[in-house]
Amino acid sequence: MVHVVVFLFILVTQVSAYRPCPKCGKIKVPYPLSTGENCGDPRYRIYCNNGALEFMSASGFYYKILSINPKANKLIIKPPLIQENTCYSSDLDQGGLMLDENLPFNISTRNTVMLFNCSDNILLSPLNCSSSSFCREFEEVGEGCGCKGTLCCHFLKDSSMTSHRIRARLGGCTAYTCVVDKQPDEPLESWNFGIELQWLPPF
Ligand SMILES: *[C@@H]1O[C@H](CO)[C@@H](O)[C@H](O)[C@H]1NC(C)=O
Ligand SMILES: *[C@@H]1O[C@H](CO)[C@@H](O)[C@H](O)[C@H]1NC(C)=O
Ligand SMILES: *[C@@H]1O[C@H](CO)[C@@H](O)[C@H](O)[C@H]1NC(C)=O
Repeated sequence: MVHVVVFLFILVTQVSAYRPCPKCGKIKVPYPLSTGENCGDPRYRIYCNNGALEFMSASGFYYKILSINPKANKLIIKPPLIQENTCYSSDLDQGGLMLDENLPFNISTRNTVMLFNCSDNILLSPLNCSSSSFCREFEEVGEGCGCKGTLCCHFLKDSSMTSHRIRARLGGCTAYTCVVDKQPDEPLESWNFGIELQWLPPF
């Protein structure tokens, strides 16, 4: 009996180094992502809360994971909700999306970010805040309605910017949303709302 237990223990500890985590709800959790101590790689920690897979930012805010592409080392999180009456993103108190720079995740270069309810000094930036900006289309639909008429801008989050933050703050821009791989003339109905993150592979 003791031998069997020892044997199993060795087996488990050896295998756990590469062991993927079990599914969370319906979503597979591919290696190296880790929902717990005994599977995945602990540096790639994500969370399985009541059957929903979530990513936690450096400031402790949880974002729902919408999809994972293990071959491309990418996952897409749901942008925070915008409160309709105030035009505040739900992560405003956390300063928007902040990634821990010591972790192997960053924001990919396929994200078109839209900022809302910005203060005037945003106009000094190179962002597109014109009346033809995509952000004007978002203001016409449900969630964006609370931001209607506020100063808004869009930009492609490319490699010239920090890849660890999308900032929201009072006196700056108080709300944002994001679309992955936005095509120039794509109608709003087919926008792929999300924030794409990528991870550095473990080896
Ligand atoms: C802003 O974006 C819109 C939509 O893509 C584009 O038509 C317009 O030329 C852009 N304006 C500036 C100043 O870049
Ligand atoms: C916009 O942001 C300011 C503070 O920066 C805030 O006072 C205001 O309530 C916000 N919402 C709208 C819809 O203007
Ligand atoms: C983000 O991470 C990817 C993969 O780890 C890396 O190739 C890329 O250079 C990083 N981007 C920036 C701007 O740090």
